[in-house]
Amino acid sequence: MSDSPNNEEPKKDRRKFIVTSTIAASTACALFPLASGIPSVLDPATKDSDNAEVPWTKVTNLATLPEDGTPTKFEVILERVKDAWTTYTNIPAGAVYLARNGDKVTAYNLKCPHLGCAIDYRKNSNDYFCPCHNSTFGLDGSVTTDNSPSPRGMDTMDTKVEDGVVWIRFQQFVPNIAEKVPV
Ligand code: FES
Repeated sequence: MSDSPNNEEPKKDRRKFIVTSTIAASTACALFPLASGIPSVLDPATKDSDNAEVPWTKVTNLATLPEDGTPTKFEVILERVKDAWTTYTNIPAGAVYLARNGDKVTAYNLKCPHLGCAIDYRKNSNDYFCPCHNSTFGLDGSVTTDNSPSPRGMDTMDTKVEDGVVWIRFQQFVPNIAEKVPV
């Protein structure tokens, strides 16, 4: 028995639906591995950044620092910064106070560990002060007020002196937590 014209139309629609669905599913399967790889193709910088070593940066000559330990402010310029695509040169990264003790130098980040304002060195009281929320720090960078909003002392970083030149490993740290955690 043959189908009437009225019964033929729904059958055609069903066949068309099955063919279309199969093509769509096959295409999705073929593309899925490619799609899952897109983030690493577009953003290869995310792959190794955790292991990148902080480079040494030249700041000044030791002879420019007062021998009595008075802090001196310096801007930190990174000679080379490389991302996944480009190498940039002479990039301002931040600022530090350097304090000399003989042939050793301590570097304190100018950025307040509370919320990141710039810390001042106060010559009159010979200490550090953040004007944003009144945190005070001693010359060794420690918090000096009981109710200081800053949860930790000033952030220090690695330094070395080679052939009379002061080098630092400049880093920023997560603000407003008690631990010193590199960003
Ligand atoms: S940002 Fe320095 S005390 Fe708040």
